[in-house]
Amino acid sequence: MSQMRNKTLVITGATKGIGKAVAEKFAQNGVNIAFTYNSNKELSDTIAKDLMDKYGIKAKAYPLNILELDEFKPLFEEIDKDFERVDFFVSNAMIYGRPVVGGYGKFMKIRPQKGLTNIFTATVGAFVRGSQEAAVRMEKVGGGAIITLSSTGNLIYIENYAGHGTNKAAVEAMSRYAAVELGDMGIRVNAVSGGPIDTDALKAFTNYEEVKAETIKRSAVNRMGSPEDLAGAVYFLCTPEASWITGQTLVVDGGTTFR
Ligand SMILES: NC(=O)c1ccc[n+]([C@@H]2O[C@H](COP(=O)([O-])OP(=O)(O)OC[C@H]3O[C@@H](n4cnc5c(N)ncnc54)[C@H](OP(=O)(O)O)[C@@H]3O)[C@@H](O)[C@H]2O)c1
Repeated sequence: MSQMRNKTLVITGATKGIGKAVAEKFAQNGVNIAFTYNSNKELSDTIAKDLMDKYGIKAKAYPLNILELDEFKPLFEEIDKDFERVDFFVSNAMIYGRPVVGGYGKFMKIRPQKGLTNIFTATVGAFVRGSQEAAVRMEKVGGGAIITLSSTGNLIYIENYAGHGTNKAAVEAMSRYAAVELGDMGIRVNAVSGGPIDTDALKAFTNYEEVKAETIKRSAVNRMGSPEDLAGAVYFLCTPEASWITGQTLVVDGGTTFR
């Protein structure tokens, strides 16, 4: 029997894209799933039902706005009522559209009091608050694993991405600090840094077609990344096979960063 079976994953933003693929990967391996949505309630209830029907695990969706960091405490209290344990936490959800105005754009247009602050809250703040709540619960079951999603836009230049790129660099650094301090609790903390992946978030880029074409051109394996490419890496880092990996960033980019 898989050592992952009957454990519980808490993941933010699993209605689509990378989060949805991560939830499915864990569910396939017998892990129960508590996941959050922001705007897509109906869709998230359907996803929960599909995961339960397909994989015979327990799955439930909860509302969360990562710009409201006070929501993490009541979120985990609700999860406590439905799930016996928390073993894994994946900080995945990300804002786009109106909340990032002033943060997504050229350097000279960045407005620290607006979009940039929101991106910090959604990236670093949400990772910190979610991980703190999860860690208290993981300690009770002898440990666990935490992953933050990052992006190679903090290693290479991507047009308009300065606000996100700097905050991804910050959350990677924060995850290393968490790794050192949570190690005694049996908790490992890592980041998965993806190259451009074909999701709605990427489609929100004003130069989406250009980024897509450039990614395929740069990739050593001549293709765009898929949500499943990142899901496999996130899953691996949570398994016992990765039990001596902590405080690291695993770059999953089809070879695009070096080229
Ligand atoms: N796509 C890429 O190229 C790429 C590459 C590397 C890393 N990443 C990272 O991977 C993660 C997921 O990206 P993705 O491309 O899969 O995104 P996505 O497909 O756009 O999905 C975003 C998710 O975040 C949720 N969300 C949006 N606004 C929210 C808010 N204010 N509060 C809480 N949840 C909110 C959405 O929920 P609703 O549907 O309910 O609104 C959705 O589930 C992000 O951290 C991103 O930076 C992405």
